[in-house]
Amino acid sequence: MNDNVVNETLRSVDFASAGPGTPGGIFLRKFWQPVFVSAELAVGKAKPIHIMGEHFTLYRGESGIAHVVGFRCAHRGTQLSTGWVKGDAIRCLYHGWTYDGGGACTERPAEKPSGAAPHISIPAFPTREHLGLIFAYFGEGEPPAFPPYPAFDDGGLVESSCDRFPCNWFQTYENHTDEVHVAFVHSPGGSHRALGRELTLPELWPEDTPFGMVRHSRVADGMERTTLYVFPNVMRIIIPPFNGLAGAGGWRDTYVILVPTDDENHLCFIVHSAVVPQAEQPAYLAAQAAFQQRCAQARPTIDVARDILAGKLDLSDVLDHPRLLVIEDSVAQGGQGAIADRTQEVLGRSDICVIRLRRLIAEELVAIADGRPGRTWVYEGQKPQRGF
Ligand code: FES
Ligand SMILES: [Fe+2]
Repeated sequence: MNDNVVNETLRSVDFASAGPGTPGGIFLRKFWQPVFVSAELAVGKAKPIHIMGEHFTLYRGESGIAHVVGFRCAHRGTQLSTGWVKGDAIRCLYHGWTYDGGGACTERPAEKPSGAAPHISIPAFPTREHLGLIFAYFGEGEPPAFPPYPAFDDGGLVESSCDRFPCNWFQTYENHTDEVHVAFVHSPGGSHRALGRELTLPELWPEDTPFGMVRHSRVADGMERTTLYVFPNVMRIIIPPFNGLAGAGGWRDTYVILVPTDDENHLCFIVHSAVVPQAEQPAYLAAQAAFQQRCAQARPTIDVARDILAGKLDLSDVLDHPRLLVIEDSVAQGGQGAIADRTQEVLGRSDICVIRLRRLIAEELVAIADGRPGRTWVYEGQKPQRGF
């Protein structure tokens, strides 16, 4: 597609929709998507999950394997996550109908016969675990190769987390390509105060790659930094720790993966590798556990961000929140509206990477809408460059 056609269509492209059958939804469903932090799903527990506009049941069987099946029981439709995990099956709370991890109905206690009912099933989706996350595949046909992106090879401790953001996922993906925001949103008065210095504004430029895009940035000292955008919704970047453990573990090789819950909210999974020398690990792990405890006790970042956007709180009121950085981003991106109106923007030279990202994604979405196959994106584990 030539640039003029892309330019014309850019403003009207629907980047936001991720529901079933939408171009964005079809695109995202071609890839494995993380749905939950592995450590937060105990054996024998079930959770309701909301992914790309659809509701599902996630549970971990007694074998330890995680399963994703339909949200509702086939009988009279109650929510399956309220039931019991039995072996590797899930049993409905209401009348005990039971489904295995493949969605087949294996038991209907009050019926005759009460055993397997081959004609009854609920949807089921392939699942795998990697990088401390549970992934599922919601697309058509066989899932693509797993893992979708490689584990870190630096021998570090892998730490995984998830926050909800109060806006469309693509706003956050755009933000990832926009390094200018760091000097303002995460200013030295905020989450980056430990750096103890003003942040210089970078010169930015994008590069197309077989996996998506690279953002190059150069700051005043001339050092160059690269950040990877592994399409459709993954960023790989090297960032300083934001867990208050300054110095420990150094800068981290990090994946950030954005998964819509619905079109006005998304999950932001952050997985990084903290390289900590063996001798320092006991102290590091104790400090990390204390940090996790603080996170667990703190208000969810999305609630704090919503209060700030509603004028009930100010960012300066929450400087001690353990996930201040996430709140800052949530406020800036949620502040664009739950679904940003791109028709009213006034873009500048510094938005060059945002514009390139839009063009590349728009080509995919227009191809899908036209019934043409999109590009095949291939990521071979290329690494970002810290640069400063
Ligand atoms: S609604 Fe599930 S068993 Fe009746
Ligand atoms: Fe940010």
